Amino acid sequence: MADLLFQPLKLGALELPNRLIMTTVKLGYGTKEGKVTERHIAFYVRRAEGGVGLITTEPLYIRTNGRELPTQLGIHEDQLTEGLRRLVDAVHAAGGRIMAHINHAGRAANPKLVPEGERVSASDVPCPANGVTPRPLSRAEIADYVAFFAAAAQRVKRAGFDAIEIPFSHGYLIHQFLSPHTNHRDDEYGGSLENRLRFGREVIAAVRRAVGGDFPIVVRMNAKDYVDGGLGIEDAIAIAQALEEMGVNALSVTSGTMCESVPYCLYPTGTPKANLLPMAARIRAAVSLPVAVAGRIRTPQIAREALAAGQSDLIGLGRSLIADPDWPRKAQSGDEEAILLCAACHQGCLAELRQGHGTSCMFNPLSGREWEIQITPTEHPKRVMVVGGGPGGMEAATIAAQRGHRVTLYERSDRLGGQFHLAAQVPYKEEFADIIRYQRVQMERAGVEERMNTTVTPEMVAAEDPDAVVLATGARPIVPPFPGLEKTRWMTAYDLLDGRTEVTTSTAFIVGAGTVGLETAEYLARRGVKSIV
Ligand SMILES: Cc1cc2nc3c(=O)[nH]c(=O)nc-3n(C[C@H](O)[C@H](O)[C@H](O)COP(=O)(O)O)c2cc1C
Ligand code: SF4
Repeated sequence: MADLLFQPLKLGALELPNRLIMTTVKLGYGTKEGKVTERHIAFYVRRAEGGVGLITTEPLYIRTNGRELPTQLGIHEDQLTEGLRRLVDAVHAAGGRIMAHINHAGRAANPKLVPEGERVSASDVPCPANGVTPRPLSRAEIADYVAFFAAAAQRVKRAGFDAIEIPFSHGYLIHQFLSPHTNHRDDEYGGSLENRLRFGREVIAAVRRAVGGDFPIVVRMNAKDYVDGGLGIEDAIAIAQALEEMGVNALSVTSGTMCESVPYCLYPTGTPKANLLPMAARIRAAVSLPVAVAGRIRTPQIAREALAAGQSDLIGLGRSLIADPDWPRKAQSGDEEAILLCAACHQGCLAELRQGHGTSCMFNPLSGREWEIQITPTEHPKRVMVVGGGPGGMEAATIAAQRGHRVTLYERSDRLGGQFHLAAQVPYKEEFADIIRYQRVQMERAGVEERMNTTVTPEMVAAEDPDAVVLATGARPIVPPFPGLEKTRWMTAYDLLDGRTEVTTSTAFIVGAGTVGLETAEYLARRGVKSIV
């Protein structure tokens, strides 16, 4: 039977070879002026090589006061078009297709990250996530903002992109007009849904004029805001039907707002997997446009089931492609055990982005570093001893072996995976176990020799006489010298999560309220133990 994931689909004039779209994800690789860098190009080219049907760029800001990061890509000036064209040409040369996502964040632009620029919106409703109280746009200014979108769309066309995406989603500027929660206007841009849609409608009309009749326009829209007084699925259906009348070519379903309900935008650990599928199905049933949907559709199986059930036409992958750019090719060839499945941890992508380092992946050291690291065969094969079979040791052993070194990995215990086993015990982090499975597969395929139940000694190293020793023995917990500790029944979180000991009392006292402390409290709560952190 034909694989539904790999059937072609037309979006306006554009033919997609398969049903997989990379959704927009902020990368933070740009210059302060919003220019494309080699890091962007290498990142997106690698995703094109991995076989995704259509790549969506990170949001390109249409005006500097709508920028979310100091290193975000801009499309607010003509001079930025040249760099964007280089990006498009590189993706095309790699056999891919690329859609520009243009945006203005309105009140959701965080002044702690980008202090410059006045925050504007439909009304002066504060954004709880960043403390901004925006200034409502006047009617004359609304026309200016429509023109900013149109000018950006002209640059999209000039740069040679294959499609354009406009967000009516996530609590960004157009959504701030759409939602009755953020739009309290009493002019023709507020009140009824028709009025709240007016700004978005004007943007779509102006963008259509700018890009021409058959150029694909995709609208990203919320199925549900998860905000009291915000938009729900019935509103979403009405908006989808209005968008079809406006002549857009496809809809891409998401949820949440960046001011009130961030987890429903970014889907961290513990949020439901693929929860938007039933709502996407309702939207799809109400229009005759292709519908995409994203949100923790992490395995090819979930994606195929969604297509087979008629819940969507296209599958949006965000973090799955940050973690493993080859997700599509591996799914197509049936090599699914080799996919590095995203664990929704946000530790490499969102956390690194917020710290100003740019998006990467906690489990894929090459992600976001494609421009500076290539795994090339060595000209001088060496004998390498890797000491420790945790995630660091397994990764080092795999990469060394992939480069052509002869690698032996030594592990003291009888299992690989080290502290990832402990992480996988914590509620909602069970998916860490998938990473261990992935690393095992990679290591075996690279030809690493394993010596389990083996403690490496200086004598052993001297006898083996390797060219290089990689120490990857992991961290050990510190036990602070609390007075009277010896009279207490204490344990480390490591011992507890590893099953070497257990809490037999009804209450536990946890010292340290970092991630490990809080996760241990959750672990104990599942076992009926109350924690004081
Ligand atoms: C680091 C990060 C940045 C993101 N930035 C945006 C953004 O700027 N605009 C947007 O519409 N979605 C953004 N998203 C949401 C993704 O496009 C996607 O909808 C979400 O991650 C759920 O899909 P996934 O589980 O496949 O990653 C971002 C997600 C992450 C993890
Ligand atoms: S860092 Fe975590 S959430 Fe982000 S892509 Fe990697 S596995 Fe997924």
